[in-house]
Amino acid sequence: MTDLYAVFGNPIAHSRSPDIHTRFARACAQDLRYEARLAAVDGFAEAISAFVASGGKGANVTVPFKEEAFRLSTRLSDRAQRAGAVNTLIFKGAEIHGDNTDGAGLVRDIECNAGLPLVGKRVLLLGAGGASRGVIAPSLARGPASLFIANRSADKAVALASSFSALAAVDGGSFAEIAGRQFDVVINATSASLSGESLPLPVGVFAAGALAYDMMYGKGETPFLKLAREQGVACCVDGLGMLVEQAAEAFFIWRGVRPETGVVLADLRAKLGA
Ligand code: ATR
Repeated sequence: MTDLYAVFGNPIAHSRSPDIHTRFARACAQDLRYEARLAAVDGFAEAISAFVASGGKGANVTVPFKEEAFRLSTRLSDRAQRAGAVNTLIFKGAEIHGDNTDGAGLVRDIECNAGLPLVGKRVLLLGAGGASRGVIAPSLARGPASLFIANRSADKAVALASSFSALAAVDGGSFAEIAGRQFDVVINATSASLSGESLPLPVGVFAAGALAYDMMYGKGETPFLKLAREQGVACCVDGLGMLVEQAAEAFFIWRGVRPETGVVLADLRAKLGA
């Protein structure tokens, strides 16, 4: 019997997850169907129970339900616990297992696709919201030399950094505080690109040979990557690879098979026209 999976969000019409998972399933000879499901903003829990009742085996969760999925989970992986958010659900009888594959997706895209191991690197993470929180522990697990969280509201960066201090030395502060410092990897986890706003990034924070990584993606260059390129950064990567890699990690959790991501990413990139 064909196993059923879905991604829940609001909005959801433009989600690329059905396309990605359908390709993974075909390539890995897995008998599954994966759909996009719109849940009402106040109807996530109901949508999930209806899906489970109809035989759903697992689900992905996107904006704005990741925190609610965290609360709904009866069991959480360590990485979901640390992220405070869930993007992958596994339904096992009455149990709902919550996991978070976003950080693993980011790390894999940086290390495997961009070819830059994080070990020993000076990492700068921009933003102190949910997107930032989700990638901190998986990034620290790769052994960077340092991790600094810079945020418009400095107090949020300081608080976020201190909540991870048991794992490694993490610091946080304002954008102004990073003036004069240099970083090998600069990751934009703010939502500034969504509104087309640029970030108050001091000139000179990119070390020679640095990677600029924007967790956002879209048609054409994001404002953050444009800024990085204008500051001489040659290696600029958007979040399309992270999207595909977090999906691959979820697929692996559900099916026990790790799909090839290269072809899917190349096809998506071509479709995006970027
Ligand atoms: P998400 O879950 O996507 O991380 P969020 O929790 O609303 O969303 O967090 C958005 C992040 O983007 C925050 O770090 C926010 O900074 P503040 O905490 O100071 O609000 C950051 N952000 C959004 N727009 C920004 C802008 N124009 N310049 C700088 N930072 C911005």
